[in-house]
Amino acid sequence: MTYALGAGTELLWPAAGCLRAASRPVRSPRRVVLLSHSAAETRALGWRLGKCVQGDEILALSGPLGSGKTCLVQGLGRGLGVRRFVNSPSFVLMKRYRARLSLIHWDWYRLDDKTDLESSGFGDLQVERGIVVIEWADRFLDQIARPFLLIEITPTGLRSRRLTLSVQGKSAALRRLVGDLELWWAARRKNDGTDLGAGH
Ligand SMILES: Nc1ncnc2c1ncn2[C@@H]1O[C@H](COP(=O)(O)OP(=O)(O)OP(=O)(O)O)[C@@H](O)[C@H]1O
Ligand SMILES: [Mg+2]
Repeated sequence: MTYALGAGTELLWPAAGCLRAASRPVRSPRRVVLLSHSAAETRALGWRLGKCVQGDEILALSGPLGSGKTCLVQGLGRGLGVRRFVNSPSFVLMKRYRARLSLIHWDWYRLDDKTDLESSGFGDLQVERGIVVIEWADRFLDQIARPFLLIEITPTGLRSRRLTLSVQGKSAALRRLVGDLELWWAARRKNDGTDLGAGH
């Protein structure tokens, strides 16, 4: 297998794209734990997610203030091809970005209760095509109507984070996505521990 550093600082593996497109079978675990040692690594994981998502995934992020949720979404945006700067939509609740697939970025930190969520239009957006990513999703997980990928970020040091990815509900596609990410992460670390740089 070839590992290639592509244009800019992006690590491409395999160069053609996601493992899912390749012929070899992929593990499809329900849950994996990945360790990030820097913001750049967390962005890199988001970037890989952006390359692999198909168009109707819901990604629910949890973790304390400053744990790296937005950092992950910035990488996701980059992987999808978003050109605008991605930041937390804490005050506007939701931002939408156009790219290979629409990115619909929620932040539920300031939502007081379920009534606010119901009037926010979140229910309707769940049926729209696009990648839905939600910061502070753990506040109202039961409002997510479809299977989703939960990413729990736990700070374990100044720059280290434990990222627990688990598929909630029955979804073979999400499990394959988790398998892709696990393999890519392991290969990346084993191969060269590439740090994609602060700008990634
Ligand atoms: N391994 C890491 N992964 C992610 N961020 C890291 C890591 N190490 C250090 N950081 C730093 O932690 C901060 C994470 O900020 P970020 O805005 O992404 O957090 P957040 O979880 O979205 O916070 P909030 O709940 O306020 O929205 C950044 O300053 C980033 O540089
Ligand atoms: Mg944030």
